[in-house]
Amino acid sequence: MIFHKLSLVFPLLCLCFTSLLTRVDSTQPPFSCDPSNPSTETFPFCKTTLPISQRARDLVSRLTLDEKISQLVNSAPAIPRLGIPAYEWWSEALHGVAGVGKGIFFNGTIRGATSFPQVILTAASFDSYLWYRIGQAIGLEARALYNAGQAIGMTFWAPNINIFRDPRWGRGQETPGEDPLVTGKYAVSYVRGVQGDTFNGGKLKGKLQASACCKHFTAYDLDNWKGTTRYKFDARVTMQDLADTYQPPFESCVKQGRASGIMCAYNRVNGIPSCADRNLLSKTARRLWGFHGYITSDCDAVSIIYDAEGYAKSPEDAVVDVLKAGMDVNCGSFLQKHTKAAVKQKKLPESEIDRALHNLFSVRMRLGLFNGNPTMQPFGKIGADVVCSPAHQVLALQAAQDGIVLLKNSHGLLPLPKSKSVSLALIGPNANSAKTLLGNYAGPSCRSITPLQALQNYVENTVYYPGCDTVACSSASIDKAVNIAKGADHVVLIMGLDQTQEKEELDRVDLVLPGRQQELITRVAEAAKKPVILVLLCGGPVDITFAKHDRNIGSILWAGYPGEAGAVALAEVIFGDHNPGGRLPMTWYPQDYIKVPMTDMKMRPQATSGNPGRTYRFYEGKEVFPFGCGLSYSKYSYKFKSVSQNKLYLNQSSSTKMVENQDVVHYKSVPELGTEFCETRKFLVTIGVKNHGEMAGKHPVLLFVKPARRGNGRPIKQLVGFQSVILNAKEKAEIVFELSPCESLSRAREDGLMVIEEGTHFLVVGDEEYPISIFV
Ligand SMILES: *[C@@H]1O[C@H](CO)[C@@H](O)[C@H](O)[C@H]1NC(C)=O
Ligand SMILES: *[C@@H]1O[C@H](CO)[C@@H](O)[C@H](O)[C@H]1NC(C)=O
Repeated sequence: MIFHKLSLVFPLLCLCFTSLLTRVDSTQPPFSCDPSNPSTETFPFCKTTLPISQRARDLVSRLTLDEKISQLVNSAPAIPRLGIPAYEWWSEALHGVAGVGKGIFFNGTIRGATSFPQVILTAASFDSYLWYRIGQAIGLEARALYNAGQAIGMTFWAPNINIFRDPRWGRGQETPGEDPLVTGKYAVSYVRGVQGDTFNGGKLKGKLQASACCKHFTAYDLDNWKGTTRYKFDARVTMQDLADTYQPPFESCVKQGRASGIMCAYNRVNGIPSCADRNLLSKTARRLWGFHGYITSDCDAVSIIYDAEGYAKSPEDAVVDVLKAGMDVNCGSFLQKHTKAAVKQKKLPESEIDRALHNLFSVRMRLGLFNGNPTMQPFGKIGADVVCSPAHQVLALQAAQDGIVLLKNSHGLLPLPKSKSVSLALIGPNANSAKTLLGNYAGPSCRSITPLQALQNYVENTVYYPGCDTVACSSASIDKAVNIAKGADHVVLIMGLDQTQEKEELDRVDLVLPGRQQELITRVAEAAKKPVILVLLCGGPVDITFAKHDRNIGSILWAGYPGEAGAVALAEVIFGDHNPGGRLPMTWYPQDYIKVPMTDMKMRPQATSGNPGRTYRFYEGKEVFPFGCGLSYSKYSYKFKSVSQNKLYLNQSSSTKMVENQDVVHYKSVPELGTEFCETRKFLVTIGVKNHGEMAGKHPVLLFVKPARRGNGRPIKQLVGFQSVILNAKEKAEIVFELSPCESLSRAREDGLMVIEEGTHFLVVGDEEYPISIFV
């Protein structure tokens, strides 16, 4: 009582004392099973020697119906009589622990966290070990925030692993891009890092450093396009597209990543709201993939099942639908309000609530929140000094360096010489904003430096002029920009998009640069003494065909939203302190791609609808820049050195089968071949890589398979492996891929069954091809 009064008076008196007091207050992380509380310490759910399932069952059995219902929402209140504190399920950590959810506070001693590049740029490194280390850093910083008393939850709603299906999607920036293999590997690496597992997995043993969540399950990739919103959208998805595009990242996230959370999406899939889909949540995730964790709804995704969609006829029906489907917790308050009535009306057996609570408390127990004082446990030793540590700052810089993609570099314009006497004109609405660099679901970050500041560190004589009023650039001062450009030795334009153009709840309707940006770029480039450098900050791709062909634009760099250290990385690339090696994780389409309705979920081209196909796997039209595009200051060449098996026999009682549309081909289904066959037929592909340049560099090697036949829903090609190699000038190396024929040489039939077809498939790296013959 006295302490409370003092804390009210002190802030008025002395600032330093206030912060001292807050610190005492906030260094106490909330936990259950306090050994100093003899009335709770004896509960079986507090006994760490018992299995978690037994402890969770004991806890649930002690709750009244009202207490049970109170726990079914993201802000779960305390249950004081059992010594259980409040818990917040909703926290965010998309590319760094963020203050966006409700479970993390940056108002204590820790004021910011490392803000890594937005995921789409991190993906461009094609380096799964880098992704793992970012996950690790995020998990450590999250736990440090908890230990410092600045978290009332350790469940983070990341990664976002929906396929970046359409270039207009406002949240494409949050994803690892358009390829299912890349997205799946990103998911596994990030989840293992955050949860405290090893890079190769298997260390977890049920204990969680922090909890990651595979979202948004499933086929969610439209936010708000021309009035169609994610809340009402019914995604019509074929079994074939589900099998080889939409579901594989989730399967990897659960099976290999061992994620402890899943979020079901707002949208319906083929008529059924994801959070009410028993087949999806219980049959596929839990039974088929072995998911052990909790399933949350996206925020207010339960209420929309009743109100926006009208799928459920009453609020109680919506409650029954989601709990029977296997969802456990509702972001929002709908279950808090309507579950009791559903029980009273005998629509919902209490056992469905117990099932959900069992999953929820199991995750809280795995996080160590029911083990007594958490500072006495292994994760309890993680101190505030890991947050924004020098090592994490270096990692944020490295991630930005490794992601930035060089798209054009005529006559070796880049890197610019580091010379004291040159002058630089820096033009563009994105050149002087630190916030834009972070993208969404970010911050507060540890540090903040704009491209202008970073470039000034190289060239003192830098003149900056935004040129546009905002990134939307409805108004531009082009003549002034032209005059400034004329007076400088070099011109760098920093253009593109920001969160006013693409974000959650905002999809684009065009692929071109906003407003008068293109006009500004073209006029400045025309007036400048030398060809200019165009830098694009954006998550989704833009159609910059004009710049590709404009001789006055010598170089183009894509820097995504490169995070808190992104400006430094960008300046290092421009001045040759870093050799760029990033490669595009998504196709850049021309503007006329917008004739495909964004609501058309089909990956495969379709003559009747005019859908030209989506992503490098199915799109046969012209690209502005293709998937995997990325230059460097060096040149690399590849050679197939050896392939341990180039003939594959699938002949155990084989039969000819008719595949779709008169396309007769012999094949075997993967389930029919069996896991033993798939394991024993794994083979090694050794590829030689040489750096022919004068500069050391890190280079991601992308290995594709081209199927034996074309058409009938087969991909044009399919990424089957990727690895980064660091090579000095003129250095050579060999890298080895291990491929499973069942994963790398199979394809999805129309009904979703994975099959391996006879014929000669080709391994492809760069322009090199290597045949693999399959006999059925
Ligand atoms: C920080 O913010 C949270 C949420 O608003 C609040 O509950 C908590 O008391 C605050 N802590 C301090 C030290 O101000
Ligand atoms: C499969 O066919 C090959 C080539 O005809 C043959 O050598 C091999 O014994 C056959 N294997 C089985 C399991 O039938």
